[in-house]
Amino acid sequence: MAVCPVVSRLTWRAKYLLLLVLCACVIAWITSHTDGRVKTPEQVPTSDEAQIQKARKETQMEVEMEMEQQEEVDEERKPKDLCPEKSQLLRGSVSLAFEPSLTLGQVEEENRGVAEGQYKPDECRARQSVAVLIPHRNREKHLLYLLHHLHPFLQRQQLHYAIYIIHQAGDAMFNRAKLLNIGYLEALKDFSWDCFIFHDIDLVPENDHNLYTCEQQPKHLVVGRNSTGYKLRYKGYFGGVTAMTREQFSKVNGFPNTYWGWGGEDDDLRIRVQLQGMKIVRPPADVARYTMVFHQRDNGNEVNKDRMRLLGRTPQMWRKDGLNSCSYKTLSVERPALYVNITADIGTPTNAH
Ligand SMILES: *[C@@H]1O[C@H](CO)[C@@H](O)[C@H](O)[C@H]1NC(C)=O
Ligand SMILES: *[C@@H]1O[C@H](CO)[C@@H](O)[C@H](O)[C@H]1NC(C)=O
Repeated sequence: MAVCPVVSRLTWRAKYLLLLVLCACVIAWITSHTDGRVKTPEQVPTSDEAQIQKARKETQMEVEMEMEQQEEVDEERKPKDLCPEKSQLLRGSVSLAFEPSLTLGQVEEENRGVAEGQYKPDECRARQSVAVLIPHRNREKHLLYLLHHLHPFLQRQQLHYAIYIIHQAGDAMFNRAKLLNIGYLEALKDFSWDCFIFHDIDLVPENDHNLYTCEQQPKHLVVGRNSTGYKLRYKGYFGGVTAMTREQFSKVNGFPNTYWGWGGEDDDLRIRVQLQGMKIVRPPADVARYTMVFHQRDNGNEVNKDRMRLLGRTPQMWRKDGLNSCSYKTLSVERPALYVNITADIGTPTNAH
């Protein structure tokens, strides 16, 4: 029995140890199991889940990129500030060159911002949209000189503008006024222009402070030209280059269609304007200056000997003869880089209004 107390003591210690070991095991098992349940899916993702997560991340990136792009587009769409009332680009009186060797290609090269005759400033929102209408037949060199000077001139004025050439088809007597009515009607099919400039092809502006914009009243821009010693041709002269808003021109029913050959139609327009109670305004003489490119009177544009009689009838005729009676056939509309070329059959003095 001498061993017995030792054994019993040992057994007691073993029991204790066993209990401790058991407790440790239970704690270890619980810990490993709870941990396992939470951690397994995250630590070892199955391949499907990995793909879904990858896809989610990519979508997120795409959305962010789209949002960035949208912000850039919004930046572009954000309305630009209105151009200043007085453009900083104006240079005043510029010396004009009329190089016989000038080509259309050169003028196109100098005006890369113009497409299909039209231009809009990049830097700001133009105050007016202006259509410049130029009646034309057989004056290619004058047209080239005018385009050469007029495009940069209008760009310095920060205008949204387009240049329209209205080309009279055939050899019948020239009719400037009717071509201008056609230009007005056709240009409005492209855009709702605020302002129209009725422009002779042989007059080149010398000073860019002579603004090609419209005012509350019809504006006459040619106070002087080199061929008249820079004096107004006569009191009440309203020819060469004039500016009228869409509304002003429509109010007077446009030009008469019945003036064939040279002269009278500009006086008729003045009478129409006066009959509507409007008053002609002019810029100061020192800026409203033009150079008239030399030419001989064209065949087919002889002086209209009937013009005084026609002018006497204007108060009775203006409602019937004008935009509302302008009949013509558009033969073609071409859009090269620097102008829109409208070719029209306008009839002859005997078969047309
Ligand atoms: C006006 O200037 C143009 C261009 O220099 C010239 O061709 C024309 O002969 C001048 N006219 C007069 C009357 O001086
Ligand atoms: C305008 O178009 C007509 C018809 O195609 C053409 O004969 C004429 O030369 C053109 N004029 C200009 C200035 O481009």
